[in-house]
Amino acid sequence: MQALLDALAPDHPDLALAREIDPDRIPRHVAIIMDGNGRWAAQRNLPRVAGHKAGVPSVRTAVETCARLGVEALTLYAFSVENWKRPRPEVDMLWRLLRAYLRLEIGTLMRNNVQFGAIGRLDALPSAVQEALDSAIRRCAPNTGLKLNIAINYGGRAEIVDAVKAMVEKSCIAPLEITEETVSAHLYTAGQPDPDLLIRTSGEMRVSNFLLWQIAYAELYVTDTLWPDFSQRELLKAVLDYQKRDRRFGGLGSREAVNAAHS
Ligand code: FPP
Repeated sequence: MQALLDALAPDHPDLALAREIDPDRIPRHVAIIMDGNGRWAAQRNLPRVAGHKAGVPSVRTAVETCARLGVEALTLYAFSVENWKRPRPEVDMLWRLLRAYLRLEIGTLMRNNVQFGAIGRLDALPSAVQEALDSAIRRCAPNTGLKLNIAINYGGRAEIVDAVKAMVEKSCIAPLEITEETVSAHLYTAGQPDPDLLIRTSGEMRVSNFLLWQIAYAELYVTDTLWPDFSQRELLKAVLDYQKRDRRFGGLGSREAVNAAHS
């Protein structure tokens, strides 16, 4: 958190907002459905791919801001298992953008001590994309800060199927040993906390097959802002909104718990 305050100049317009954030209630894991690139482009009479290109700086901002806030994990939904249905030139452009991002942003990832990872059915990606991912993962392996997961060829149901397959393959797991903990330990995000905050841009009220298991108790934040316009300020607003929530996890909220204790 202090890293964010230190990074903002005294006259930065986001400083007052950043100072409102409670450093003791930073979400451990933030997940983002980056939506609205196509609409951003359509509003400007540009091809859809121009919207994806314009979304790359928002990726950089989200990564840097989460790293400075002290968020432990950030998962970005870049390409779903369903996205192969998009026109071939658009899909090819997304692969080019991802490779360019990894090439150009490796310095930002290293400066911010980011541990880079990718989740999804990565074997099905073009080999050049797999190589670029592997190289970024290797370069960032010594880092100890924010865990950045880029979800690519990702589906929440596919992830659960893959976890079940992995458990069955380990025939040593007896039915009684199949618990919520063992399932979690076989997901792509094994070892990471579940998302506390799920952000979706561009106003759609859907979870779109994203981290279905892990978002069981996530707080949802939907903004009408389109992904290319999603700024540091927008992210800070989402975190502040999250900090106002009374998380119940199926039990009593903190106010009700106090009242129940006194009754
Ligand atoms: C959804 O917008 C966005 C995507 C499917 C791709 C997201 C990709 C990027 C932000 C750029 C590259 C990513 C990285 C990680 C460097 P949409 O096309 O569905 O928008 P629409 O709903 O307005 O049509």
